[in-house]
Amino acid sequence: MPTETTRETSREAPEALESFLPLAGPLQPSPKLVSLVAPGSFEADQYESLRHLVRWSAETHGHKVFVVTSAAPGDGKTLTSVNLAGALAHGAEARVLLVEGDLRQPAVLAMLGLDESAHPTGLVQVALSGSTLHDVVRRDPKHRLHLAPAGEPSGSPYDVLSAPPVSRFFEDARRHFDFVVVDAPPAVGFPDYRLLEKLADASLLVVSEGVTPRRMLQLAVENVDAKKSMGIVLNRADVRDVSRYYESYYRPRRPAEPAS
Ligand SMILES: Nc1ncnc2c1ncn2[C@@H]1O[C@H](COP(=O)(O)OP(=O)(O)OP(=O)(O)O)[C@@H](O)[C@H]1O
Ligand SMILES: [Mg+2]
Repeated sequence: MPTETTRETSREAPEALESFLPLAGPLQPSPKLVSLVAPGSFEADQYESLRHLVRWSAETHGHKVFVVTSAAPGDGKTLTSVNLAGALAHGAEARVLLVEGDLRQPAVLAMLGLDESAHPTGLVQVALSGSTLHDVVRRDPKHRLHLAPAGEPSGSPYDVLSAPPVSRFFEDARRHFDFVVVDAPPAVGFPDYRLLEKLADASLLVVSEGVTPRRMLQLAVENVDAKKSMGIVLNRADVRDVSRYYESYYRPRRPAEPAS
């Protein structure tokens, strides 16, 4: 089991991270990206719990690459991936890479308010045109977050992700980053999910409360590799009760009455 020290030495010196190109333009995150725009809020704290689980998995099992999937389209994979990566980037020392691994519906850049046409080089170009980690990864100095875009589409997502240079890309990413979060397609019906799962150490399955059909959830649980599964992330959960006591728990205490 790798210790903190072995993880530190297994990545390149911190200066090396500065060598990644900056993003072409500032982030303008969606208001739903609470871990970036509203840290400390009730909603952001729910992603802090997820961050805690991921950190525990890293410290206990040496896990580094986390793939986020769901049973059905639209369950909240991208929102969860970006919020998780944002929460992980709160760690003073954490070096976090967010990978746009869903080549069918890449949506990370759009959710972050970035112009996709200004970031045309990504995983697709790693697979097909010999691009490397340093050609592809862009850094956001403000949030300590690094992004690997999907890139301009070409070929089938399955063929792109099964190309040997993509495995090498992930090996390089493991050397440079403490956490790699991969936004993937759904686990049911999309064979490219299996390839991303193979490249990852652990998986998270996003389920939308009251939305994900039970049958799809059953299929997804059967489809994911049980040895890598860290469990289910309940999205769109009705947490009004928790939210109410969260607010009152943190309400500032009334100042003591002055003694007369
Ligand atoms: N908890 C939530 N609260 C509010 N809006 C949400 C929530 N989860 C997801 N959404 C919204 O639902 C839509 C789908 O979410 P998202 O893109 O994260 O899903 P996805 O699983 O990545 O979808 P796809 O399968 O198309 O990639 C987005 O507009 C997102 O902002
Ligand atoms: Mg998505």
